[in-house]
Amino acid sequence: MPDSILGNNPGGVKPAGGKLGVLTVGLGAVSTTFIAGVESVRRGHSRPIGSLTQMATIRLGKRTEGRAPLIRDFVPLAELDDLVFGAWDPIPDDALTAAKKAGVLDERDLAPVADFLAAIRPMPAAFENKYVVRIQGTNVKTGRTKRELAEQIRQDIRDFVARHGLARVVVVWCASTEIFMRPGPQHSTIEEFEKAMERNDDAIAPSMLYAWAAIMEGVPFCNGAPNLCVDTLALIDLAQRKGVPISGKDFKTGQTWLKTVVAPALKARMLGLAGWYSTNILGNRDGEVLDDPASFKTKEESKLSVLHTILQPEVYPDLYKDFSHVVRINYYPPRGDNKEGWDNIDIFGWMNYPMQIKINFLCRDSILAAPLVLDLALLSDFAQRAGMKGIQEWLSFYYKSPMAAPGLQPEHDLFIQQTKLKNTLRHLMGEEQITHLGLEYYT
Ligand SMILES: NC(=O)c1ccc[n+]([C@@H]2O[C@H](COP(=O)([O-])OP(=O)(O)OC[C@H]3O[C@@H](n4cnc5c(N)ncnc54)[C@H](O)[C@@H]3O)[C@@H](O)[C@H]2O)c1
Repeated sequence: MPDSILGNNPGGVKPAGGKLGVLTVGLGAVSTTFIAGVESVRRGHSRPIGSLTQMATIRLGKRTEGRAPLIRDFVPLAELDDLVFGAWDPIPDDALTAAKKAGVLDERDLAPVADFLAAIRPMPAAFENKYVVRIQGTNVKTGRTKRELAEQIRQDIRDFVARHGLARVVVVWCASTEIFMRPGPQHSTIEEFEKAMERNDDAIAPSMLYAWAAIMEGVPFCNGAPNLCVDTLALIDLAQRKGVPISGKDFKTGQTWLKTVVAPALKARMLGLAGWYSTNILGNRDGEVLDDPASFKTKEESKLSVLHTILQPEVYPDLYKDFSHVVRINYYPPRGDNKEGWDNIDIFGWMNYPMQIKINFLCRDSILAAPLVLDLALLSDFAQRAGMKGIQEWLSFYYKSPMAAPGLQPEHDLFIQQTKLKNTLRHLMGEEQITHLGLEYYT
C-alpha cells in the first residue's frame, strides 16, 4: 500500500496488518464453498471469480486521468493469505465432510484442499430446534440461560483469537434461515434485550446471541440470512456504542439479484408491470429448511419487498399500481445446490400493449454466495479500521433486504448500490466522489 494513498485520507485508515479471523455461523454449503474457494485461490488452483474486492477496479479522478486501480490495491484490505477460518455448527462434521455432503464442489476441486478443510471443526452452536425446525443438531452448547450461551460465544471468539494469534475477527452468519419473527419490546433497547436473554424469552433467537456476542467483543457482524438478527434497535444501538460495523441481510444472489437489475431497467424506460411470477426449485439443505412454512415466510418477506421499493407504485400508479408479485421456492432434492429459477414478467408499453420477459436461470447458489462472504468479511474489517460503526448501508450491494437507518428506505437497485459502495471507498480513502456529470469534458 503506497503511503500517499493512506496519507490522502483525512480520517486515516488503520493498516491491515496481522491475521484476520473469519468466523462463520454455520458450516454448510455456503461457508464450506467460501472457505474451500479461498484456500484454492491461495494455493494457486483458482481465481476469485465473483469477488469485487479481488477482481474489480475502481475509477479515480477524471476519465482522462486513466486511473483505475484494482480495489484491493486502492483500499488496505486484509490479504487472502492472512485469513484464518473457524465456524460454529450444531452438526459436528468437519468442513471437508460438510462440503462433500453439500455437494457443491466436485471431488477434483475438493481433493487439493482436503487436508485444509478436514482440519476445520465446528465449535458447538447456540442452537434451538424451534427456530430452525428441519435441523437436528448434536454439537450444541448448553447453559441455564440464553445469556450464558451468548457468553460462551464470546469466550469462543476470544479463544479463537488467542489460538491463532489474530489481530482482528469478523463474524458472518451463514447458518440456516430461522423462523419469521417481528421485533418486539425485547429488541427495543439493550437493557430489555439482555433481560430477555436472562429469562430465556422466546423472542431471542440463537442468531441474536451471536450478533450480541460479536458486537460485545468489538467484532463486525454480517447477516447473510433473512431472519431477524442484528437488525433490531437494541443491537444497532449497541453496535454504534461499541464502534462495530454491522450489516445485513440475506445475501443477494440468484433471482433477487437479477430482479434488482431488470426492475430498474423497466422503471428507467417508464415501462409498466402487470405481474412478476418467480418460482424456484432447489434441493440443498437450505431448500429443505425453506420447505418449512415459518422459515419460508422469512425468505418470502425478504424477496417480496424488493420490487415495491424499486418501482415505487405510490409515485407511478399508472405503471406499477397493483402488479402481482408471486415468489415460490420448492424443495426438489435431485437438484441439490443447483437451483433453477423461472421468472415470468408481464410488462406493458406504449398504448398499453403487453409484452413478456422470461428468465430461466440455472444457477449454483453457493457458487454465487461464496464471493459475497469474502467481500463482506474484508470490507467489514476495512470499515472498522476506517472508523465506521453501526449499520453499513454502503454494503447493501450484497443484500436482498439491506439494513438502513430507521425510517429510511434502502436502495435496492444494484447499480445504485454499486455506485454507493465505490463512492464510500473513495470517500474513506480521501478521493473525489464521482457524480458522472462530466460537463467539464465539453467546455
Ligand atoms: N446460497 C445462497 O445463494 C444464499 C443466498 C441468500 C441467503 N442464503 C442463506 O445463507 C444461509 C446458508 O445457506 P446454505 O446453503 O449454506 O445452508 P446449509 O443448510 O447448507 O448450511 C447452514 C448451516 O447452518 C447450520 N446452523 C443452523 N442453525 C445454526 C445455529 N444456530 N448456529 C450455528 N449453525 C447453525 C446448519 O446446521 C447448517 O450446517 C441460509 O440461511 C440461506 O438462506 C444463501
